[in-house]
Amino acid sequence: MSIWRWRQFIDAPPEEDQLSLGEGDTPLVTCRRLGPENGLRRLALKLEFANPTGSFKDRFAAAAVSHMVSRRQSLCVATSSGNTGSALAAYCAAAGIICKIAIVETAPAAKLLQMLAHGAELFRVRGFGVDPHVTEAAFAALSDLGASPDAALQISAFKYSPLGMAGVQTIAYELAEQAPEVRHVFVPAGGGGLTLAIARGFQQLVSSGQLNQSPAVHCVQPIGNDTIATPLRDGARKARTEHCSTAVTGLQVPSVIDGDLVIEACRASGGTGHCVSDDEVFETQR
Ligand SMILES: Cc1ncc(COP(=O)(O)O)c(C=O)c1O
Repeated sequence: MSIWRWRQFIDAPPEEDQLSLGEGDTPLVTCRRLGPENGLRRLALKLEFANPTGSFKDRFAAAAVSHMVSRRQSLCVATSSGNTGSALAAYCAAAGIICKIAIVETAPAAKLLQMLAHGAELFRVRGFGVDPHVTEAAFAALSDLGASPDAALQISAFKYSPLGMAGVQTIAYELAEQAPEVRHVFVPAGGGGLTLAIARGFQQLVSSGQLNQSPAVHCVQPIGNDTIATPLRDGARKARTEHCSTAVTGLQVPSVIDGDLVIEACRASGGTGHCVSDDEVFETQR
């Protein structure tokens, strides 16, 4: 199990630099209750928590850190609300790379412990991930830090780390293999990188003739961080910045990162935007 099974589709570093901790090939499980209760007989969930550190970000970290290995870089500078940091900390530890992470104020304690256990150095920034101005200023400061030749800035978004995000496209390749009949894919979005990766992955399969048609890729956001979903549904071309009020960690990204590209890619696939309340999210998770 490794994202490098799909090396012909993604911009891969030389084989000897391809790092893996066994990410990818996560199960696709048909819901016994949630689907039928909502009139959907074939609702399935892709269990990304089955990845080594517990999220799809391992696909990102495997690709991003492998490219750092091939460039002989020794310092990873990153931002995280939890999952990216845990993934990068683990893959950097495996590669012997120093990992420094600016974390959002609300990052869960368990995730911080996971990062620390893998030897990452953490910086907690007040207002980061809540206030769009603080969030953008933090991104700019980190870009400077990551600009030296022996360092790389890793933020899980195409805007900052396209080589790492190519690793996330493997979700689409696996879905096309596991459920060739899939017609709609619903993706939770913070900054939108995950949604864009899945839409691009399907698009790439169509362009290379391996799939007749992309499923409709839908962008789902909490009402308290509706930067992309409503503009997409309303026919706008641009995402918007918002003050973030959702308590759903991982989706607290108040600035426009990959948002405009998400709107374009979801719309081209036939998908749209959906908003859900925090109560609905937590109720459904139980
Ligand atoms: C579990 C989970 N789902 C979805 C997302 C949203 O990803 P993106 O910010 O790329 O939209 C994140 C981001 O941290 C996450 O951790």
